Amino acid sequence: MARRRMIYEGKAKILYEGPEPDTLIQYFKDDATAFNAEKHGVIDGKGVLNNRLSEHFMTGLNAIGVPTHFIKRLNMREQLVRMVEIIPLEVVVRNMAAGSMSKRLGIKEGTALPRPIIEFYLKDDALGDPLVTEEHIIAFNWATQQDIDDMIALALRVNDFMTGLMYGVGIRLVDFKIEIGRIFDGDFQRLIVADEISPDSCRLWDIESGQKLDKDVFRRDLGDLADAYTEVARRLGVLPRNGATVPGPKLVQ
Ligand code: TMP
Repeated sequence: MARRRMIYEGKAKILYEGPEPDTLIQYFKDDATAFNAEKHGVIDGKGVLNNRLSEHFMTGLNAIGVPTHFIKRLNMREQLVRMVEIIPLEVVVRNMAAGSMSKRLGIKEGTALPRPIIEFYLKDDALGDPLVTEEHIIAFNWATQQDIDDMIALALRVNDFMTGLMYGVGIRLVDFKIEIGRIFDGDFQRLIVADEISPDSCRLWDIESGQKLDKDVFRRDLGDLADAYTEVARRLGVLPRNGATVPGPKLVQ
């Protein structure tokens, strides 16, 4: 395939110009970073797994009427997505205390929260993606009050869907992060789920053993990250059809 124009390179993905207007090609790299890229590694096959897993989650969301940017998977590492105007916020939903919330508030990891808690973080690597309030978001024009209401509604629907899907395969969805983008349909605009949903952006714990099956395996040096993601993919039935475990064939560029 002829190489396309690169639009943006992030820590774990690259965006290329798509084949049609308002589309992009999202390429999943094997790179893993943590702590604002202070820690970096290359995990053979991670991009292939996340491409598959994000496809699986976004396809399901689309099917139940939660709009996402996902159009179709193109190959092992690439998917066609709708171009959006990304809202510069990371939307985190938490069902149990863990990670930065446990640290910030002194709540033991694994404590069930009385209700899902939504937090917004400003997407700004130089500042280390700080936690921001709705007041900040509106005052600094990162999004409107209507956008915030829509983002909360979307995030809670994603949470219900993902919690149920994971519960069905014996995995607790502890928390996750999504990014949301704006699309324009003539005079109308609406918000849709963008970026990716994968074990890079979720905390997933085995319900029985508590074993971590997400990027914390890399962040905290708990073992083999590809093994953990492969286990999630295997339980969800989204491994490549021949049954071979990824990494599998490598995309020739
Ligand atoms: P946190 O506990 O570190 O704030 O993370 C909350 C959730 O958000 C967790 O599922 C991991 C995810 N996350 C990202 O996807 N990207 C990030 O940059 C960070 C900090 C967290």
